[in-house]
Amino acid sequence: MQQLISQIEEYKKEMAAAQAADAKEAEAFRIKYLGTKGVVKAIMGEMRNVAADQRKEAGQLLNEFKQYAEARFEELKAGVSGDAEQTAAIDLSLPGDPIPLGGRHPITLMRNRIVSIFQRLGFAVAEGPEIEDDWHNFGALNLPEHHPARDMQDTFYIQQNPDWVLRTHTSSVQIREMEKGKLPIRMLMPGRVYRNETVSARSHCFFHQVEGLYIDENVSFADLKQTLYFFVKEMYGKDVKVRFRPSYFPFTEPSAEMDVTCFICGGSGCNICKKTGWVEILGCGMVHPNVLQNCNIDPNKYTGFAFGMGIERPALLKYGINDIRLFSENDLRFLKQFTHAV
Ligand code: PHE
Repeated sequence: MQQLISQIEEYKKEMAAAQAADAKEAEAFRIKYLGTKGVVKAIMGEMRNVAADQRKEAGQLLNEFKQYAEARFEELKAGVSGDAEQTAAIDLSLPGDPIPLGGRHPITLMRNRIVSIFQRLGFAVAEGPEIEDDWHNFGALNLPEHHPARDMQDTFYIQQNPDWVLRTHTSSVQIREMEKGKLPIRMLMPGRVYRNETVSARSHCFFHQVEGLYIDENVSFADLKQTLYFFVKEMYGKDVKVRFRPSYFPFTEPSAEMDVTCFICGGSGCNICKKTGWVEILGCGMVHPNVLQNCNIDPNKYTGFAFGMGIERPALLKYGINDIRLFSENDLRFLKQFTHAV
């Protein structure tokens, strides 16, 4: 028994003096003292030689010894990865780590730009669902079933319910606003739309639009033109010229497409405007009486105009981007370039 006590004392001194410079040395300590062939196990084996009446006392001693070894190991381990090591390495004179700032997505930047121009004319913003029923995306917009103009946009249908589609344009939000029955309406409706098109540098199966809708008594085509003139001047500068070309949309009558003089070449002809000097930026027209009627608005009392434009194209042109797919790839090298853009 006496021999056991002095052995334990010896090992305790040894352990007290032990040091570990790194995790490997701490592990070596553990193996030496606490491993399966370690000191603690060996001393435990000595119990056999202890006289029966001293076993209880010896057991206690051994337990304490084991706990001490474990505590020492924890200390050494903590010392390695903990404060002691690191305090020495801290240089308080070093500048702090900057917190990287996020930035807005270029599509969001362009959307906000467009929205803020119309907000100055009193347009409020409305949003609607991206999964739409046939009525809001087509029917109410004067596109009954089997209408050939449905093929103007390649639609994604939802398998579980043939009445549901991924909206092909933000015009569906027009209907939702009109259905609310509150007039006059002066709304801007930005959002994502989907079309079943082959993905390439120039087109994608989803993209973004901003739609505008103004309904009141005595709204005329002249109001539409003035509103869009204001937009173009604010957006592209006062020297930009505008032209309207007659067009066709089932939900507007008359309908037009609006071009602006190419803001890349100034109208002299380049690749962007395909040498025409003009860039098409939006579709527009007077809301078709059938559409008003579909939303329980009296077409004899109220008239209105609507317009819709894509966000991708102006963003591509403004930021000099040559591939529409970059917008949706979430590549930080691309996105970081807009951290400070407005
Ligand atoms: N919805 C049309 C499109 O996606 C754009 C448009 C909106 C045209 C409103 C006229 C009036 O092409």
